[in-house]
Amino acid sequence: MNNYPDITKSSETKNKLSIFCEDIFCGLTATAKYLDSKYFYDVAGDKLFQQIMHSPEYYPTNCELEILSQQTDQIVAEIQGHFNSFDLIELGAGDALKSSHLLHNLLQKNNPFTYFPIDISKNVITTLSNQLPDRLPGLNIQGLNGEYFEMLTRANSISNKNKVVLFLGSNIGNMFPADAERFCLKLKEHLLPGDLLFIGFDLKKNPKVILDAYNDKQGFTRDFNLNLLNRINTELDADFNLANFQHYPTYDPQTGACKSYLVSTEDQQVYIAQADKYINFAENECIYMEISQKYTLQQTLELAQKIGFTPITHFFDSKKWFVDSIWKC
Ligand code: TRP
Repeated sequence: MNNYPDITKSSETKNKLSIFCEDIFCGLTATAKYLDSKYFYDVAGDKLFQQIMHSPEYYPTNCELEILSQQTDQIVAEIQGHFNSFDLIELGAGDALKSSHLLHNLLQKNNPFTYFPIDISKNVITTLSNQLPDRLPGLNIQGLNGEYFEMLTRANSISNKNKVVLFLGSNIGNMFPADAERFCLKLKEHLLPGDLLFIGFDLKKNPKVILDAYNDKQGFTRDFNLNLLNRINTELDADFNLANFQHYPTYDPQTGACKSYLVSTEDQQVYIAQADKYINFAENECIYMEISQKYTLQQTLELAQKIGFTPITHFFDSKKWFVDSIWKC
């Protein structure tokens, strides 16, 4: 130990803060204001998202958990039918609750494989690396903290086996359809012929069921959206008055786009000290917060075909509200 300040750490923190500041400022000065949903997940945001997932209205997590916990044998059999040995990559692993059903089953079947969870959160990767081997004895885990494509390249430099890539939850749904297409195309460039993609889609269903899932009665989703303003207040020393913004969720059954906005309830000005800038809001001006795109099964097939993946099988929950599909490269 010495008494010098930890320069590396403080400059890293400063850098992150200035990127955050720049992104927020860019979004709030755009003609149609927006905030990037990747910033929802600070400590308070993580907690609120847990509460959303436990609310009676929010169905996607339960549907996919049902698929992975009830059809594990069929999923594993399908994967094993394609190659003798492979490694497993998970994009955005989170708490790996859903994927641990697959991992457990694969370990029981004596499959020698390495699990590469990729996540942008360092905390997620550290926690998984520390705790997962205790829950799943014998698991080979190599956590990769960083951006998806950089870490995919890293995984490919470590392992030359075929890959099974898990892309679960509403991950793909959080992109506009055109972005989802570009993303899948890029993903394919990081894979080899024969590799498998296990990808989740939230399906179109009764529009009220969808809207309710993004507008829970207890207000967790509202608070989750407003929390980002709170985060900006705390981290960028801004003065948003949360009482002057309304949560406005929408779902368009025609396009399948489920979007959230925050609506300014009056003409107001907000000061962001970190940027030393004022932002003006007109009464009823909206900040676009996030999209959760819903698909028909047919649309998922068209997406796969357009990019050159071959759809192999589909696993549905009992209500057919969610699908996990296996696409082959
Ligand atoms: N994006 C995830 C989803 O589509 C999680 C989520 C649920 C979410 N409700 C939200 C993200 C509200 C931002 C705002 O299901």
